Amino acid sequence: MKEKWWKNAIVYQIYPKSFQDTNGDGIGDLRGIINRLDYIKNLGADTIWLCPINVSPMMDNGYDIADYYNVDPDFGTNEDLEELVEAAKKRGIKVLMDLVVNHCSSEHAWFKEAVRDPKSKYASYFIIEETDGKEPNNMRCYAAASAWERIGDSNRFYFHSFSREQPDLNWENPELRKEIIEMMKFWQKKGIAGFRIDAIGNIKKSKEALEQKPIPTDSSDGMASMEKHVLMQNGIEEYLRELKEEVFDKYDMMTVAEVDVPEEKMERFIGKDGLFSMVFDFSYTDIDIEKRNGKEWKRDWSIKELKEKIFKSQNAIQKYGWGSPYLENHDQPRSIDKYVSKEEIGYESKTALGALYFFLRGTPFIYQGQEIGMENYPFKDADELRDPFAVERYEQSVKNGENAEADMEYFRARGRDNSRTPMQWDDGAYAGFSDTEPWIPVNPNYKTMNAKSQMEETHSVYHFYQKMICLRKSPEYGKTLTYGDFEGIETEKDALIGYKRADEKYEISVWVNFGNETVDLPEKLEQNSILLNNRTEAPESKLLPYQTILAVKEK
Ligand code: NOJ
Repeated sequence: MKEKWWKNAIVYQIYPKSFQDTNGDGIGDLRGIINRLDYIKNLGADTIWLCPINVSPMMDNGYDIADYYNVDPDFGTNEDLEELVEAAKKRGIKVLMDLVVNHCSSEHAWFKEAVRDPKSKYASYFIIEETDGKEPNNMRCYAAASAWERIGDSNRFYFHSFSREQPDLNWENPELRKEIIEMMKFWQKKGIAGFRIDAIGNIKKSKEALEQKPIPTDSSDGMASMEKHVLMQNGIEEYLRELKEEVFDKYDMMTVAEVDVPEEKMERFIGKDGLFSMVFDFSYTDIDIEKRNGKEWKRDWSIKELKEKIFKSQNAIQKYGWGSPYLENHDQPRSIDKYVSKEEIGYESKTALGALYFFLRGTPFIYQGQEIGMENYPFKDADELRDPFAVERYEQSVKNGENAEADMEYFRARGRDNSRTPMQWDDGAYAGFSDTEPWIPVNPNYKTMNAKSQMEETHSVYHFYQKMICLRKSPEYGKTLTYGDFEGIETEKDALIGYKRADEKYEISVWVNFGNETVDLPEKLEQNSILLNNRTEAPESKLLPYQTILAVKEK
């Protein structure tokens, strides 16, 4: 197995808008991140991923870029970014940026020009169809409306996978691809070590998606879902290879793509000469949702299923390449609320959940606040929603006379705003995030759940994450925990999840009791073999409720 710098990285994901405000506008900024680098270093992470910081109208909090070459004034300046990269480097921390190139913002100069002048070269930077006045076809975008938006009062329509303010870029156009490659090089020269690549599986569309003829519908509204037509279409790899050859490989970058790759394509995506360093796997983070009538809804799932999904994903990834274990990000709710029932949420369940994913094979990702056990926001009603996709879905339901309260219930459990509330630094005003009212409310539990108190207590989620990182980085066991083979352990009780990481030197077992009853372990644990334990007691061959233990055997 080739050793690459990013294989033993620990990534800390930052949602800049909600991390730390320093200029008193209620919005986080780059200076805030600079000020908190010591916190990240102290935790042990050595790579940060910044969600988009480019100029943007912020309709989708930066996933709608209006200028690829400049930092948004809300966050600071290009000089601030350079300073951040430098300050991070001094602490041994690398910086990844978010690359959002499936679409840009409708405020981008390219798009404005394409709208103004149909003959301009920028018109072919987008997917625009002229019709006799009707939408070209019945494709539905992810925001539950038509994927086609009329330009002004013309008969021209542009295609958008996400919201109407996010027109898709036309990757068929080599000139557009060249622009993107140049832009990536620009940031690389500023010291950016790699990219998290947004919605990259969407860049190629099927022929039918763009034709002026109806597509067979798959729901009662007569529209057709995107998935079959805009995800992982044949020919996409040609474009991705260009990025790899022109940028990723040349500069030894870490790349993590947001794309669901079926097993038969994994070799080409993350294999030896793969397109990316790694891709995000949604199989177990989206275990609790299903699509019905074009919308996502909650579904029931079991621990057994969770275990199976994790093992399946690990076995496939290990066969072909490298993984990126994660539980949370800015599109997910807080993980503890997803995987554990309300009455069982606490220190033990949070740390057990942490250990469950943290030692899987791949580069682990931690989302801001996860390391202090942040929880979902207690939403009361729709006024508190900030995520434009949620607001739009709610308003559509109200407009259509549907049960909008059902949507609200979904957002309480699953809404993206849950993880976007301000980082809870201390028990002071606005949780130490800002000295003014933040753009999104602070979770009221900040008085007791904050980084400061977590760092002061010895028995805290924060310290447990710190220990997990130390183990992954330890001179003794780090190699096994990074490069060692993964093997899922068959267990009788569903609540008992176990897996091994092994190389020629050690075999390390990770045991997690993911339930509220004591379970028997299939093997006896020698007291001196225990590397990590989230409880003070260590029964010989049992695990207490939500207990997790790492034990090592020399080979
Ligand atoms: C995925 C991003 O993670 C999400 O936040 C965003 O809304 C969409 N892509 C569109 O860019």
